Amino acid sequence: MIVVNSIEELKIATANLKGSIGFVPTMGALHEGHLSLIKRARVECDTVIVSIFVNPTQFLEGEDLDKYPRKDEADKQICKLAKVDILFMPTIDMIYNRDELRVEAPAIRGFILEGSRRAGHFNGVLQIVMKLFNIISFNRPKEFKAYFGKKDAQQLALIEQMVRDYFLNVKIIPCDIVRDSDGLALSSRNVYLSKEERVKALSISRSLKRASKLIMQNILDKETIVKEMRGVMSEIEIEYIALVDREFREIESVEIKNSIILVASRVGGVRLIDNIWI
Ligand code: PAJ
Repeated sequence: MIVVNSIEELKIATANLKGSIGFVPTMGALHEGHLSLIKRARVECDTVIVSIFVNPTQFLEGEDLDKYPRKDEADKQICKLAKVDILFMPTIDMIYNRDELRVEAPAIRGFILEGSRRAGHFNGVLQIVMKLFNIISFNRPKEFKAYFGKKDAQQLALIEQMVRDYFLNVKIIPCDIVRDSDGLALSSRNVYLSKEERVKALSISRSLKRASKLIMQNILDKETIVKEMRGVMSEIEIEYIALVDREFREIESVEIKNSIILVASRVGGVRLIDNIWI
């Protein structure tokens, strides 16, 4: 594995590659969720490139940019063991200029749910992902795939839309959510949870399980499902429970194979999101 710290080095490292590139963008503090994306890219692509960049433009004022977990050395080891070919770790100055052109999230899909709680967050996500796609595919690989987790379902939908709307030459590969054995969806932010908070946080995945049970009993209306889920999560602060179709339009009744149920909540000071694809 080579670790690359500049865009110039990255261009050189990708100059003579043959075959496909599998790209996994991350903000580091890698866990099994990230690793599942990397492993899948390893199986499906000739060259695997991982980026680690804690992207300042996707954090809002007052969010956890400064305390976001950073584990560069451990992350390097994880990538090496996972047989990553190139680990790209740029600095902020290399990526951003002053007064630069902006990518904007779409006015509706980009500003509902996560986008309404974190206004502007997706502008920052799309901006960095666009930049990373361009840097990584600079030498025009034969095939270019990028791996994203369904855990961040709205992010995934918006990146897919950016690829369509801007005619980008990259194939987006959605990957399943990885959970701890107790059901909690893995997230770099789980380290902020105290023991007690973690126990409470388990009600999030339990509520999603409850929803999927109801759906198996053919109970499909949003109102009943949301009411049941609220009951399961009675001890935590719920920001929203939403039912959307795969295009991220809000719907009133579950459409089998075309729906996502999303939860955002706060446990202690920690904001957690999770979802289930139906
Ligand atoms: P980060 O939170 O580090 O996540 C990197 C990738 O890992 C994302 O595609 C995310 O959906 C996926 N991921 C995180 N937890 C997961 C889990 N439990 N199961 C499956 N996949 C999981 O998402 C970002 O970084 C940033 O917004 C980024 C796209 C890198 C742009 O800065």
